[in-house]
Amino acid sequence: MDAKNAARMVNLPGNCGSCWVASADPTGYTPLDASIHAETVVVGGGIVGLTTALRLRETGRPVILVEALEIGRQVTGRSTAKITTQHALIYRHLIDTCGLPTARSYAEANSAIPALIKDWTREYAIACDLERKDAYTYATSAEGRDKIVAEAKAAREARLQAEVLDRAPLPFETTGALCFADQAQFNPAKYLVGLARAVADRGGRIFEKSRAVLIGEAGRWRVVTAGGTVHAENVVVATNITVKSPVGMANRTQPRCHTALAFRVDDPLVVDGMFISTDDPMHSIRTGRDNTGPLLVTLGPKFNTGQDGNVAARFVELEEWARRNLPVGNVAWRWCNEDYDTADRIPYVGEPDTDKAPGFYIATGFNAWGISNGTAAGMMIADMIQGRPSPWRSLYDPTRSYPKEFHKNGDSQSIVRSTNDIRPGEGGVISRGDERIAVCRDTDGTLHAVSATCTHKGCTVTWNNADCTWDCPCHGSIFASNGAVIHGPARKPLVPVEL
Ligand SMILES: Cc1cc2nc3c(=O)[nH]c(=O)nc-3n(C[C@H](O)[C@H](O)[C@H](O)COP(=O)(O)OP(=O)(O)OC[C@H]3O[C@@H](n4cnc5c(N)ncnc54)[C@H](O)[C@@H]3O)c2cc1C
Ligand code: FES
Repeated sequence: MDAKNAARMVNLPGNCGSCWVASADPTGYTPLDASIHAETVVVGGGIVGLTTALRLRETGRPVILVEALEIGRQVTGRSTAKITTQHALIYRHLIDTCGLPTARSYAEANSAIPALIKDWTREYAIACDLERKDAYTYATSAEGRDKIVAEAKAAREARLQAEVLDRAPLPFETTGALCFADQAQFNPAKYLVGLARAVADRGGRIFEKSRAVLIGEAGRWRVVTAGGTVHAENVVVATNITVKSPVGMANRTQPRCHTALAFRVDDPLVVDGMFISTDDPMHSIRTGRDNTGPLLVTLGPKFNTGQDGNVAARFVELEEWARRNLPVGNVAWRWCNEDYDTADRIPYVGEPDTDKAPGFYIATGFNAWGISNGTAAGMMIADMIQGRPSPWRSLYDPTRSYPKEFHKNGDSQSIVRSTNDIRPGEGGVISRGDERIAVCRDTDGTLHAVSATCTHKGCTVTWNNADCTWDCPCHGSIFASNGAVIHGPARKPLVPVEL
């Protein structure tokens, strides 16, 4: 298949959706429908929000969690869910740009997490396919190998164990690999469903399908959803990208998106380990399973959300790469996922304005390493709420300075002249006077139109021809084809338009 023609191909192979989400139990918490109070309200049921909530319940603190959609099905449930301190090549970068103490602090914060996750899965009987795996960053060029050698030295300076191998244990040629032994992987959606159950069993209250449309102050914090309001002394905005913050996060971060494909394989140990490449184009590989059997999960290189007009072509390229290099069968699952980068590659976590907004906490910018960083963030926020010291406060300081040129807005990549240019299964943005309209055509030919103006800060959305969503090229909001919000920072849907 010619990748350039993939935009025309609405029928990409495999089921659309994450293999982890597909094999996790449904949750079924009811929506918020009253005005209630708790000491802390957590907004968002991903790894950050649920870790915070469970930690608070473990220490007997009252907590309510509101989730816009369903627990565990968003960024965490669509990740590759490697639980590791090996975040590709990061320690050389941190030592060179932020200094050795920061690199050590980052290593320490992330090192504590695998044991915590293991303890919680045992204590709360969470069956989430947690398994020990070695993590490898592999090179396919001489320069890549040099980087690996430098990273191994840096990792050891940061007090981590790191070994350089002549080749990665992969069925294709590599020029070397950096091995961090005894890391782990799991099914992140099953893990979050289990964390939610543990929160609820310990008296925490969880509400699904309850999007916070307003977070404000009225003596105490107030989180308003369509059905009710939660009043609280503390609010934790754990929405992946903050939907509200006293210190703006949208321009401190850059949304990045990836394509993922899960292939059927016969052998659950078709590769043994978790892999990420250091040379471009980046690929990531791990094993896993769904309800049918073993899978090999592959990830393609990152691109800025909403700034690529042909995401389907990226799936085609990823499949071609996987078939050239790995013994894979049919595509079982395919999905996109996004996270947010920061300029220094360290997340922003904590209380951004202790004077003007005391009790307001955020966590964002996980640079696609938020399984461990996000768990550390949840633990740290829970400690802060209880007035306990945390060794990672300055590491994750959400008010630290950042280069203003880091964030890059984009424009729609889907501009067409008229609806005649939109074929069945496609979407395009047309102009009517000053108005820009996002139009998609069903496979039966029916047109659906919503405003193309993102409800966050007004950028024009791009059609994602693989997921059939409208993606914002500025701060990564994602809307369903009918305009409903799938991913923030937008809180309101795209407005319906009559054609
Ligand atoms: C392709 C990819 C692969 C990755 N692989 C790894 C990996 O292998 N290892 C690793 O460590 N990290 C990985 N990551 C990163 C990691 O998955 C994320 O950093 C982490 O899961 C983020 O967790 P979260 O709780 O912030 O977000 P989420 O899991 O998205 O949780 C946020 C929740 O908030 C809800 N929400 C949003 N707005 C509102 C609102 N207004 N009201 C109520 N609720 C709201 C959402 O619906 C969502 O459920 C990967 C990321 C990507 C993109
Ligand atoms: S996400 Fe900010 S303008 Fe769309």
